[in-house]
Amino acid sequence: PTRVLTGITTSGTPHLGNYVGAVRPAIAASRDPGSESFYFLADLHSLIKAQDPARTQRSTLEIAATWLAAGLEPDRVWFYRQSDVPEITELTWMLTCVAGKGILNRAHAYKAAVDRNRAEGEDDDSGVTAGLFMYPVLMAADILIFNADRVPVGRDQVQHIEMARDFGQRFNHVYGREWFTLPEAVVEAHVATLPGLDGRKMSKSYDNTIPLFVPEAELRRLVFSIVTDSRAPGEPKPVEGSALYELYRAFATPEEAAAFGQAFADGIGWGEAKQRLADLLEREIAPLRARYLDLVARPGDIEDTLRDGARRLRERYATPLLAQVREAVGLRDLS
Ligand code: TYM
Repeated sequence: PTRVLTGITTSGTPHLGNYVGAVRPAIAASRDPGSESFYFLADLHSLIKAQDPARTQRSTLEIAATWLAAGLEPDRVWFYRQSDVPEITELTWMLTCVAGKGILNRAHAYKAAVDRNRAEGEDDDSGVTAGLFMYPVLMAADILIFNADRVPVGRDQVQHIEMARDFGQRFNHVYGREWFTLPEAVVEAHVATLPGLDGRKMSKSYDNTIPLFVPEAELRRLVFSIVTDSRAPGEPKPVEGSALYELYRAFATPEEAAAFGQAFADGIGWGEAKQRLADLLEREIAPLRARYLDLVARPGDIEDTLRDGARRLRERYATPLLAQVREAVGLRDLS
């Protein structure tokens, strides 16, 4: 089967963009019998930004509960927490020793930090940790350790997948055979851009998100705060460039989306359009929210699910792979 792997960094609470762009399609893909899915919580990556232990733990629980509430079946998907698989960090070092430093210098997140420093007249690396610099190597280890074929991600992550290919290829070259599969990034163009309240891409850094599991009243309040123009009821409204319409489409059947587009052309008032969007969101989210609240109230069960996933996954894939890699580079086998 084709191996599909993706991760979410455990920083903060998931929003509609994460759900539509990552969680919902990943769960749909996991039901394809021709694929084997690996979905994980990137808690080691979260340490790069969040250095608040309570928050890291809380966020891991919330994101795990989100996947489960959205329908992830731990019996058919490898579902685990990155830090529960220590072979990933061990492989990170092996890859660090073949990764070109010049390639890491070009990583977007690192370059953005350097550019900010230059603009402010600081030293290039002022306030930059080696963790931020090494981020792509840890991510390459996440992917290569399970020989993933396909990695579904948003556009912002594509460069990291290319780096994973590069490091895997160098390792294969240096150690003389195809130890690792080279992964392909998969970007779903039509879901890569769910807009937020202000019409820009929904993102925590723009402070324009609709969190997935706010209470219904808060969800309705947020929908009513979506920015619209000054067209009055009765005036036709274009669907192009309308965040309201895009959000509606992401949750509607094609027939419902077409009817909503017709209502725009017929001059629906913004208040009524928002009402319809709120009803639609609530239709899909309400059952998930109920499951989510039930799950987060039982953190022990989530913990058991995650530990069990990592335990089985290590036994099946991670431990044997590391034994091979140790042998490949000339280190002693641990077993
Ligand atoms: P992260 O946690 O920033 O984002 C998780 C996934 O959600 C996508 N995404 C969006 N998609 C559509 N619309 C939006 N508004 C939106 N906002 C975010 C992201 O592109 C991503 O696919 N480094 C990764 C986590 C990671 C990983 C991996 C991913 C660690 N190791 C190995 C794949 C494979 C990250 O920080 O994603």
